[in-house]
Amino acid sequence: MKKILGIGASNSKKSINRQFASWAISQLEDMKGEVLDLNDYEMPIYSKDRENESGIPAEAKAFKSKIKSADAIIISFAEYNGSYTSAYKNIIDWVSRVEKGIWANKPLLLLSTSPGGRGALNVLTAAKSTIPHQGAQVVGSFSLPSFNQNFDQEDGIVNEDLLNSFSDELEKLTAVINQENTIPIS
Ligand SMILES: Cc1cc2nc3c(=O)[nH]c(=O)nc-3n(C[C@H](O)[C@H](O)[C@H](O)COP(=O)(O)O)c2cc1C
Repeated sequence: MKKILGIGASNSKKSINRQFASWAISQLEDMKGEVLDLNDYEMPIYSKDRENESGIPAEAKAFKSKIKSADAIIISFAEYNGSYTSAYKNIIDWVSRVEKGIWANKPLLLLSTSPGGRGALNVLTAAKSTIPHQGAQVVGSFSLPSFNQNFDQEDGIVNEDLLNSFSDELEKLTAVINQENTIPIS
């Protein structure tokens, strides 16, 4: 069974982005999901000096192992002041030092949500432009605006148009995962 890694790019205990990533995974049939809690990967703020003095923390290597063992990854980005949360950025800075290509060439679906009407679009836009250069195959993206109005714990996305747009993006990920399943005819 294919393994899908979910990341809510926030360290908030009740992160709406972790909820969203988790629900997105639940929409994939016959796939095994695991959603990470960034609090399990908290490290000192990255600095070159710290790396030179103490090396790369075990948490960064453990995070990288999770990436490597996944067949595909779904990240939902929280936006703080128009950008990534410090918690996410710090982990990525450390993981980028483990080895080249943060995302190990895995297919990624990029999501974002916020209580506001722009749905954390700034951070999603930043992620769309940088993540393809971090050893990732970005297959799609979707931003969910006004989380509290458009998302239900049980039913997921409740707005039909938004659900259709989301499903189109999720389908792109499914297609890539299943493509990797096909045995080439020789
Ligand atoms: C320090 C801080 C900065 C924020 N900046 C933004 C922002 O720039 N854009 C936005 O849409 N929401 C912003 N918010 C609101 C977040 O979108 C909201 O807290 C959301 O729940 C964060 O996602 P999470 O629950 O997954 O952590 C900010 C919240 C905090 C605490």
